[in-house]
Amino acid sequence: QAGMFTYDPGFTSTASCRSSITYIDGEAGILLYRGYPIEQLAMQCSFLEVCYLLLRGELPNFDQLKEFERNITMHTMVHDQLTNFFKGFRRDAHPMAIMVGVVGALSAFYHDALDIRSKCDREMSAIRLLAKVPTIVAMCHKYSAGSPFMYPQNKLSYVENFMRMMLATPCEEYEPNPVLVRALDRILILHADHEQNASTSTVRLAGSSGANPFACITAGIACLWGAAHGGANEAVLHMLEEIGDTSRIGIYINKAKDKDDPFRLMGFGHRVYKNHDPRAKLMRETCYEVLGELGLQDDPLFKLALELERIALEDEYFIEKKLYPNVDFYSGIVLHALGIPSKMFTAIFAMGRTVGWISHWDEMIADPEQKIGRPRQLYTGATRRDVPARHGR
Ligand code: SDX
Repeated sequence: QAGMFTYDPGFTSTASCRSSITYIDGEAGILLYRGYPIEQLAMQCSFLEVCYLLLRGELPNFDQLKEFERNITMHTMVHDQLTNFFKGFRRDAHPMAIMVGVVGALSAFYHDALDIRSKCDREMSAIRLLAKVPTIVAMCHKYSAGSPFMYPQNKLSYVENFMRMMLATPCEEYEPNPVLVRALDRILILHADHEQNASTSTVRLAGSSGANPFACITAGIACLWGAAHGGANEAVLHMLEEIGDTSRIGIYINKAKDKDDPFRLMGFGHRVYKNHDPRAKLMRETCYEVLGELGLQDDPLFKLALELERIALEDEYFIEKKLYPNVDFYSGIVLHALGIPSKMFTAIFAMGRTVGWISHWDEMIADPEQKIGRPRQLYTGATRRDVPARHGR
């Protein structure tokens, strides 16, 4: 109910900004989008309903949702010249490298006609990014697979369209499975926003200079790529494949505890959550649903992940350090089961987080008092008087 949470005055002294979009209580494991609990949104709403909520502050009524969906559908195609950008990449280029290049290139197609002080122009940028990022993500996959690009189909829903562009070919249609479509839709909701995380703060800082939204979102994509952030979902799958068997879990738990070993348990720990990440529990439930639908209940990676989580949560190091599974721990297993290759996982994370980045960018630009970001530092270097005579001078 309104006013459920009081703003911790002590925290304002270190807060980088004020925002009404997302609230996290890391100690209690609470995540709210515009005041609604993530658990209810993930189970009762579609991703586009949540996008509308994050962008405009309220859930859409039927007509508003239909108008929003239609608007996005009509912008899912990319300018045909944009396809030329892919040709400059090697086929084995990481999809996030291509995403940085191609999403950044959107600036060259839409930036000139854009006035970021205009609410209407900002809304149009949001529509274009929400519509085109899935098309670009699917193109990244097709390019690396050496397959022809698939065009969006306006009769399909947002996630059906994406899954078809990713998994269909001109020779064979992709028949969307409603359970799998719903699962991916929920995964996007779980990734949609997360307050001032590293990539969202990057987007805000870039946007504070007045840079266009396409360039700012590109900065967020670059930051998300890191293994400590969005790159963790891909790293979790590689870690599970390397562990291979439950008998080897102890080796990796000990490596993670060894201060001299840089290895960290991927998908565990969080800058803010010192309790269960509510998204991880929802992601695990989605795992059960998808693997059940596909008859993969005994998927070895999932079984290994469940056992790894059980052992880690009982380990005194993880208990003492308050390390719990985060959103990335199970997401890779679900995406893997959906037929999405691991090097695409972070691009999928970026596809979900695009709405959060745009919402924070818009909130900041709309604030008449916002100024250019200028983080300060504690100088730890020397102060010297004279440049020494040298080189014979
Ligand atoms: C995301 O900010 C967000 O909201 C991000 C995100 C979002 O939605 O935007 O939630 C998405 O990025 C989730 C995190 C994904 N990353 C990983 O899963 C990579 C593995 N996790 C770690 O690298 C780590 O947990 C971080 C980077 C997420 C947080 O690291 P911190 O800030 O060091 O965590 P901390 O300060 O709470 O760590 C406490 C202690 C430290 O040891 P000490 O210095 O106290 O001796 O626990 C250790 C850490 O070294 N530790 C781990 C660990 N995570 C923290 N030890 C082993 N394995 C781990 N995974």
